[in-house]
Amino acid sequence: MIVVDNLHKQFGGVHAVDGASLTIETGSITGLIGPNGAGKTTLFNIIAGLFPPTSGTIHLDGEDITGLEPHELFGKGLLRTFQIAHEFSTLTVLENLMMVPPNQLGEKLMNTWIRRGAVAAEDRDIRDKALEVIDFLNLGHLTHENAGNLSGGQKKLLELGRTMMVDAKIVLLDEVGAGVNRTLLAQIGDAIIKLNEERGYTFCMIEHDMDFIARLCDPVIVMAEGAVLATGTAAEVRANEEVIEAYLGTGLKNKTPTAKAAG
Ligand SMILES: Nc1ncnc2c1ncn2[C@@H]1O[C@H](COP(=O)(O)OP(=O)(O)OP(=O)(O)O)[C@@H](O)[C@H]1O
Ligand SMILES: [Mg+2]
Repeated sequence: MIVVDNLHKQFGGVHAVDGASLTIETGSITGLIGPNGAGKTTLFNIIAGLFPPTSGTIHLDGEDITGLEPHELFGKGLLRTFQIAHEFSTLTVLENLMMVPPNQLGEKLMNTWIRRGAVAAEDRDIRDKALEVIDFLNLGHLTHENAGNLSGGQKKLLELGRTMMVDAKIVLLDEVGAGVNRTLLAQIGDAIIKLNEERGYTFCMIEHDMDFIARLCDPVIVMAEGAVLATGTAAEVRANEEVIEAYLGTGLKNKTPTAKAAG
């Protein structure tokens, strides 16, 4: 579905992404791991159109999407979540979800005059859809809670919910499990598997928790120093000497791929 070819991104003298090439297969839940500073988030940011690469290309289903804007990619079904959740804290869970679908008729003033009935019907549809998403994610008890009052894990679930308000094809998840308690993490994992199996979502997820990765992801891509170091099953990359060295080599500030790493 996504083919990244020889991608580079330089910030001044820093080679954040340095010749990364990888493929995300349609229908997969692909894991993206690697030590801190490996370039994972930068790679996601480029794929999702936050900024263009210094060089290299990205194709989505055969179409060159390099340098397209986030809203253009959104229209093609490519969505991302952020390492830090981006909720609207003073809006409720329901309202946060209802804000997602683009080009709502009601946003155009003339439409609310001329096509009042259509606007009301669309509002109802979006509301129904949002309630369905809330139900899917088991967030029913929080429907009218301000998003700012949610726990870290619940905010991550809400981020996932936002991707369900549109017809997503591929979703990039940046540390959706970071700082989330075990119970909620299992719930997030279940939701990801369900979206993958029942709605055909393709996922690529950055994660530091190897147990979570091993449960969900095949294949797992390992990045180090801006490039891809290894690809394989979770068990394969975990046993890979180069991978172990990459994690150990970056010193004490580095997170190692242990079960307990919180991200
Ligand atoms: N906007 C920026 N300006 C300058 N340097 C940046 C910028 N964004 C990232 N970097 C640098 O690029 C490198 C890769 O960072 P990136 O955030 O992509 O790593 P990461 O693999 O996501 O790490 P982590 O696991 O800690 O989230 C780091 O050295 C980082 O300091
Ligand atoms: Mg990151």
